[in-house]
Amino acid sequence: MTEPYYEDETVTLYLGDMREILPALNLQADLVVADPPYAETSLAWDRWPEGWPALAATVASSMWCFGSMRMFLQQRDEFADWKLSQDYVREKHNGSGFARDRFRRVHETATHWYRGNWADIHHDVPLIPAQFNAKGRTTSTSAVVVPHTGKIGEHAYTDAGMRLARSVRRAPSVRRGIHPTQKPVEVVRELITYACPPGGLVVDPFAGSGSTLDAARQSGRRAIGIEADEEYAEAAKRRLSSLVLPAA
Ligand SMILES: C[S@@+](CC[C@H](N)C(=O)[O-])C[C@H]1O[C@@H](n2cnc3c(N)ncnc32)[C@H](O)[C@@H]1O
Repeated sequence: MTEPYYEDETVTLYLGDMREILPALNLQADLVVADPPYAETSLAWDRWPEGWPALAATVASSMWCFGSMRMFLQQRDEFADWKLSQDYVREKHNGSGFARDRFRRVHETATHWYRGNWADIHHDVPLIPAQFNAKGRTTSTSAVVVPHTGKIGEHAYTDAGMRLARSVRRAPSVRRGIHPTQKPVEVVRELITYACPPGGLVVDPFAGSGSTLDAARQSGRRAIGIEADEEYAEAAKRRLSSLVLPAA
C-alpha cells in the first residue's frame, strides 16, 4: 500500500520512484504537469527515468512537460504515445550561464501534449486586457472575437478588449528557492488553468519543491505529486503545510 508522505484537502505528495508509485495509484487525472530530469547536468537526481512519458499517458490525455529543446529531441521516441499541441516559453531574468560558448540561456520551454481528439481536451486560454497605443489602436492583432468556424467573414467583428495570453511569459527565477530548478508558481498556474478544468486533478510525477501542487491549490484544482528524493519531498511538505490555513 502506498502511503502519502503529505496530504491535505487538495494535495497529496508521495515519496518514491514515479515508475513504481504511479501504476500503484491506479488513477485517472485531467492533466499531468511534468518537469522531469533533463539529464543535462551532473546533479545526482538528473537522470532520465526511461519510459515515464508512456506511464504518464496511462493517467491522463493532456500533459505539460518542461524541458530543453535538446532534451525533447534526444528523447523524442519516448513521446510516441503523445501528440504535440504547442510550446510555451518562459523568459527568465538573468538565466543560467553553464556554457561559455553558447548564448546565455534566458528561457525555458514547456510543451503541451495530448492524446485522442483535440476537441475532447480541456483548453481554456487565459485572456489578458488588450494594450492600446496613443492613437487608440491595439498593439496586438489577435483580438478575441467569436470562435473561428472556418467561415471567415460570416461574423460581425466585436472587439471585447481582451487578447489571448501570449505564449512567451517573463517570470524571474525563484529567489532563495528550495530546489535548484524550482519553477515560478505563476507560470505553472497559467499552464494548469489552461489545461485542467476547475476542481480537476493534476498529477506531477517529478514534484521537486512542490510548485505544481502549490499552483494547483492556488488555482482551485487538486493535485498529486511524486518525488523520489526525500530531502526535496521534505522541503515540499514544509512548503505545502506552511500554506495551509489553520482551522477556524
Ligand atoms: C526538474 S526537478 C522538478 C522541480 C520542480 N518542478 C520544482 O518546481 O521544484 C525533477 C525532480 O524529479 C525528481 N526525480 C528524478 N527521478 C525521479 C523518479 N524516477 N521518480 C520521482 N521523482 C524523480 C528529482 O529528485 C527532482 O527533484
